[in-house]
Amino acid sequence: MTAPVRFGDATIDELLAALTLDEKALLLEGVDSWRTNAIPRLGIPSLVLTDGPHGVRMVRDDGGAFGVGDSRPSTSFPTSVTVAHTWDPEQARRIGAAIARECREFGVDVLLAPGVNIMRDPRCGRNFEYFSEDPLVSGAFGSAFVRGVQGEGVATSVKHFAANSNEDYRFVGDSVVDERALREIYLRAFERIVREAGPATVMCAYNRLNGTFCSDHRELLTGILREEWGFDGVVMTDWGATHDRVASLEAGCELDMPGEVALNRIAIVDAVRAGRLAPDVLDEAVRRMLRLIERAAAARETGSTGPFDRAAHADLAREIATDGAVLLANDGILPLDPGAAGLVVVGELFEKMRFQGGGSSLILPPEMVTPRDAFDGRGIDYRYTRGYRTLTSERDETLEQEAVAAARTAAATGGTVLFFGGLDDFEESEGFDRVHLRLGEPQVALLGRLVDAGARVVLVLFAGAPVEVPFADELAAVLDLALPGMHGGEATAALLFGEANPSGKLTESWPRTAAHASAAADYGRGAIARYAESIYVGYRFHDAAGTDLRFPFGHGLSYTDFAYRDLEVRVDGDRVSASLEVANVGERGGAEVVQLYVRNPRGEVFMADKELRAFGKVQVPTGETRRVELGFELAELAYWDVAEHDWVLEDGDYEVLVAASAADIRLTAPLTVDRGRRSRSPYPAAVDADYAAPPHGIPASFALLLGRPVPAEPPSRLTMETRLGDARRSILARILLGAVLGRVRRAQRAAQSMPESPRRDAQLKSAHFVLRMMPSMSLRSLAMSSGGRLPLHLALGIAELASWHPIRGIRLLMGRRAGRTAPDPTPDRTHAPTKEPVR
Ligand code: BGC
Repeated sequence: MTAPVRFGDATIDELLAALTLDEKALLLEGVDSWRTNAIPRLGIPSLVLTDGPHGVRMVRDDGGAFGVGDSRPSTSFPTSVTVAHTWDPEQARRIGAAIARECREFGVDVLLAPGVNIMRDPRCGRNFEYFSEDPLVSGAFGSAFVRGVQGEGVATSVKHFAANSNEDYRFVGDSVVDERALREIYLRAFERIVREAGPATVMCAYNRLNGTFCSDHRELLTGILREEWGFDGVVMTDWGATHDRVASLEAGCELDMPGEVALNRIAIVDAVRAGRLAPDVLDEAVRRMLRLIERAAAARETGSTGPFDRAAHADLAREIATDGAVLLANDGILPLDPGAAGLVVVGELFEKMRFQGGGSSLILPPEMVTPRDAFDGRGIDYRYTRGYRTLTSERDETLEQEAVAAARTAAATGGTVLFFGGLDDFEESEGFDRVHLRLGEPQVALLGRLVDAGARVVLVLFAGAPVEVPFADELAAVLDLALPGMHGGEATAALLFGEANPSGKLTESWPRTAAHASAAADYGRGAIARYAESIYVGYRFHDAAGTDLRFPFGHGLSYTDFAYRDLEVRVDGDRVSASLEVANVGERGGAEVVQLYVRNPRGEVFMADKELRAFGKVQVPTGETRRVELGFELAELAYWDVAEHDWVLEDGDYEVLVAASAADIRLTAPLTVDRGRRSRSPYPAAVDADYAAPPHGIPASFALLLGRPVPAEPPSRLTMETRLGDARRSILARILLGAVLGRVRRAQRAAQSMPESPRRDAQLKSAHFVLRMMPSMSLRSLAMSSGGRLPLHLALGIAELASWHPIRGIRLLMGRRAGRTAPDPTPDRTHAPTKEPVR
């Protein structure tokens, strides 16, 4: 008698041979939001997955609950944008390793992080979860984070693959991107991470990319990701991103999350039985999934699982919040003297610090240090007035008058006003985009009154993305903490009072208004997102367009000054090395972020003026000098040639620029490339003409650049892929939306009438999140992510009814599936997973 096949003892081939067709389909989906199906009969355990990226969001409840109140406390680290502002990828590695240690304690196998989408526009509600507008920065930080997490035995899921640069249309939208921009900007960070750090999984995005949903995109998931870049892990969907389960398997997307959509399993089983899906395709997907499960099981056996060092993680969060803060402006008022009299502090964010962004990355921290706590801990003498309320657009005259009176006193006595401002969770969150970059009206109005009162005002900002800086020319200083995690208050105080010297720099350009952003011509206007700016994203646009920015990419001040000297550039084989000296010529020790850009030659093919190719951060004591070595591969200078579908390194006179920001070039050196390659433009003349400089608006030649017509906006009738909010003429959409939103509005009203408390704020925030996000969901995304509350057949039935197919619609609503070709295997869930965790 042969021994029974058991996971742990059997090989993957033996397990494959022992699995039934149903079990294979089950293995490739979640049983709820945070676990994959186990196959207890063969001892195959489920995988535990959780968000990411700013800590471990271990939700206590299953069934898809997103509530932060229901998750276990874990360190709330600075958000990704803050980490990137350190310009020190080692910090991302350390955070990754720390989060992984927390994952180990909670039994998490896969961390749903990092997010490495390009910040295409400052309005994207989720920019705080991303690193930069620049692919080198995004890739370097993403790689370091993956190495940190995976080095501790926890798998990562690099997300959201690809071109997911807005939230309002993420479930249905089509990112229309030309091949070159895709390769040079939107895929490049993913490529670096896959090649350098070997993430165990990749999460595909919700959106379409050039007409095909990413979950069904074979060229993306197989052609590019696996065949070109050598990815050998598992691709999973974003939560509810499955459209056509069979097509997605064929495309190379193995895992359907959060799963529990019976029709998706049935689709797989039916397709295999009917010969529409090759059994090999299914087996290959199962094989990859089993490898991931084996890897997780092996990691559980080795390595530490004891309690992590909470104090050390809190210290790390504080250290990185400090390193990632950016001093945007300073007329010399900062640092403040901690003993000075007459300090007035205004703004609710002083005591209710916004330290993280809304949505799936919410963390419940075990503790928190607000700026107020940190001021009090230092015994600072200040007068606090609240000035405005967050989570409302209403001004409060009483609060404003109090603040203005305090500011007048400060003005009269030479005191300083510290204004704590920024965005709240109603304004910036996963799930929706901003429509402008302004701070809330209550803050802008109050700030104006404080400035008018004649006080010297320092603005301390908490926001995950650029904002318009009101009265910028009248402010004495602006310190940007971004979203700094649970110890942000400590970082704020340390920087304001000069215990630490600011060393962060921006990894995104700050335009003066949304109209000046590089994607302004077509951002957030409809389901068809025309990436008409092509490669000209962020500083690549502003440099050549001469945009009058509020703050350029790479900008950040210090309390000291640095001089750059003595640049030497060498080419050894395929590598370019640059070496220079940075001298601290100011009064305090500090760290400087040195950026190396390369100016492109003016050849036939359009290029950005300059592109970041390397960066480094160096600590320099006052009066001393340090040598900084930076380097990059010559191949990095290549552009993507759309005729050859390959990278081409063009000969010509390049120039190495060493800079303190994209707008502050300190040293230059020539760099000649002479490898025998002179390129001809692969584009029609109209493209060459329109794209010789960054286009304003959408050039007529955009279709030529794409090589196909620009798709038209889809009709607004209700289909499976229409945003419910766009199908307002459909009675069914209105009923469905009304039913969900009605309940949420009632909850919102109930919360509004509660006395002020953190609980009230939490309820208001979650109501707002649903109210803003629901209209952008489609029937399909609702069904796929509802954990069975809106079964797919009901959603399909509603869509059929809306398309005037009553018979098909009613059949579906009654639970009969159209076009079934084989007996239904799913009711037999004998071997199906239990709802109980298997370990
Ligand atoms: C987000 C992902 C996240 C997932 C699970 C999705 O809505 O886009 O980033 O990992 O939910 O929470």
